[in-house]
Amino acid sequence: MSELFYITTPIYYVNARPHLGHAYSGIVADVACRYNLMRERETFFLTGTDEHGDKIVRAAKKENISPKAYVDKISNLFKDLCPELEIKYNHFIRTTDSAHIAVVKHILQKIYDSGEIYFSEYEGLYCFGCERFYTERELVDGKCPDHKTEPEVIKESNYFFKMSSYQDWLIDHINNNPDFIHPERYRNEVLSFLSEPLEDLCISRPKTRLRWGISLPFDDNYVTYVWFDALINYISAVGYPDGELFKKFWPHVNHIVAKDILKPHAIYWPIMLKAAGIPLYNRLNVHGYWNVDQSKMSKSLGNVVEPLQVKNKYGLDAFRFFIMRDMVFGLDSSFSEEAIVQRINSDLANDLGNLFSRVLAMAHKYFSGEIPEVDPVVEQELQFGLESNAIKTIDNFENAMVNFEFHKALIAIWEFISRMNKYVDATAPWELAKKKSSRKQLAAVIYNLLEGLRVISGLIYPVMPGTSKTMQKHLGMNPDENYYNLEILKKWGTIKSGTKLPKLVTLFPRVDIKKKELYSYGNNSEHMSLALKPEISMEEFNKIDLRIATVVQAEIIPRAKKLLKIEVDSGKKLTIVAGISEGYTPENIIGKQVIIVANLKPVQIMGILSKGMLLAALDDNICAVGTVDKKIKPGTPLS
Ligand code: ME8
Ligand code: MG
Repeated sequence: MSELFYITTPIYYVNARPHLGHAYSGIVADVACRYNLMRERETFFLTGTDEHGDKIVRAAKKENISPKAYVDKISNLFKDLCPELEIKYNHFIRTTDSAHIAVVKHILQKIYDSGEIYFSEYEGLYCFGCERFYTERELVDGKCPDHKTEPEVIKESNYFFKMSSYQDWLIDHINNNPDFIHPERYRNEVLSFLSEPLEDLCISRPKTRLRWGISLPFDDNYVTYVWFDALINYISAVGYPDGELFKKFWPHVNHIVAKDILKPHAIYWPIMLKAAGIPLYNRLNVHGYWNVDQSKMSKSLGNVVEPLQVKNKYGLDAFRFFIMRDMVFGLDSSFSEEAIVQRINSDLANDLGNLFSRVLAMAHKYFSGEIPEVDPVVEQELQFGLESNAIKTIDNFENAMVNFEFHKALIAIWEFISRMNKYVDATAPWELAKKKSSRKQLAAVIYNLLEGLRVISGLIYPVMPGTSKTMQKHLGMNPDENYYNLEILKKWGTIKSGTKLPKLVTLFPRVDIKKKELYSYGNNSEHMSLALKPEISMEEFNKIDLRIATVVQAEIIPRAKKLLKIEVDSGKKLTIVAGISEGYTPENIIGKQVIIVANLKPVQIMGILSKGMLLAALDDNICAVGTVDKKIKPGTPLS
């Protein structure tokens, strides 16, 4: 093996369950790693959890368990998610691992001994959510830009790391290494931040305030600031200072983070490494946010999408494909189920799936499921540039992958798929099959199509490893061979004539949008059913006036497919427009006792003023209204 590749994800806080954003970083790292395996590089993939600090203590308290029991539990959720998503890491680090703790202490002592850490009193604006001090100019309307809460003024004596004295050095380093922070927009953001004076970094927390952390080796009254502890995971995990893995892999490291943690990675971390006399990382790769309804998906906002739910509903490879294809690395992207369904039906079922089925069906029909013998001259004649197109596709794919432009790599593959579909139309094998005299031509066309599919099956490997394997198996290839190796992929003519092909398979069934209910019920169609709603307090819940009501009148609303206009008696008469006509006719809803929200702000729906909401549930085929199991006086509140 010629070169080495080391990739990391952030280590995630264990204060809540993993969501789509975390899954994305892990899948990106996995895709990058698998691409490097295609190039026969030796790879090391690190992920893990960040387990110290205030946030964790508060989350554990909420559940009434010890911080240790709490971090064990949540860390396992992150760890167990990886095999579910085919995220194939080499090591899963936890900052509570004793080996990690020893390295953090070692580095602190080293930097302290070199005189780069001093003790001083500090008063500043502190965000408990971020666990860090903010400067005035970093706040947005006086609030933390991430948590949207006002920071508190805190005054205490602490240890400080002399970051400011490294400012000019860091600016030079970034200027001299244009690819150090990638994509460029984030490099510019960091340089712009560095155009203002850099403050020293407070790296301790007094134990009077926080005990859940790594004690400073030079003062037992303090624990280490969680970021100073966390960043070191990238070297402790590979056995800094003397471990073989560290020596081998460290200088080749690529970090993956989202833009929320750009500053610690682009500023604190290089300076920490420099101060400790360790070579800097190779490249920081920064991606944008997955948003839901325009806001960042985050545990603090509570609008999270559960990756396992998406996987279970649509399949792993479709999920991986969607997130890699839809997000432009570096920019934000919006998650919606409609977008996934759209991608599955058009790119996967239609373009790739149809091509695959079409070609294999022809190989079965015309050659009894055996890869035909080809006459090399005829094969060349009938290539119509397919081979050179495949080579060009591999080139474009590689250029995009090296730059983490995953969507572009996929676009390149899909252009080739479209080229293949055109090749089928241009060569019209069904016409060739009509004449005995075109048998050689037919064999050449089918062979070329099978070769094209082989190339596609290899190129999709990093993003869709399962589908890649299925395709290869159905192309009669030996799954034990290194079927995704780029050098082999480039060799047109690899598929062996005479090989028996297994029976047909559908790669991606179309998703019937009607059958899969995309939205949660009601007129709040902007809420996806996969997005869990935020936790609310009892006080908030009590604001909802739930009442028993009897339906006294109901009628169809012309032109509205799903809506009924109903009159209910809930102590007083109310008109409600309810989307229940897929499950109820006016006749069979009249007389039912239902549950309504009686204090919803009235809204105009189809020209009718609707003064409440009727609770109902909708699954794949059934619409059912919420009701009570005994007759009860209309207007009775529910609690
Ligand atoms: O910051 N979109 O942990 P964290 C895309 N422990 N990615 C997202 C995302 C979203 N909406 N939300 C989260 C920490 N992520 C520290 C890191 S590293 C030494 C310490 C992903 O649990 C993304 O990778 O808040 C982001 O950077 C990370 O989760 C933040 O995870
Ligand atoms: Mg965070």
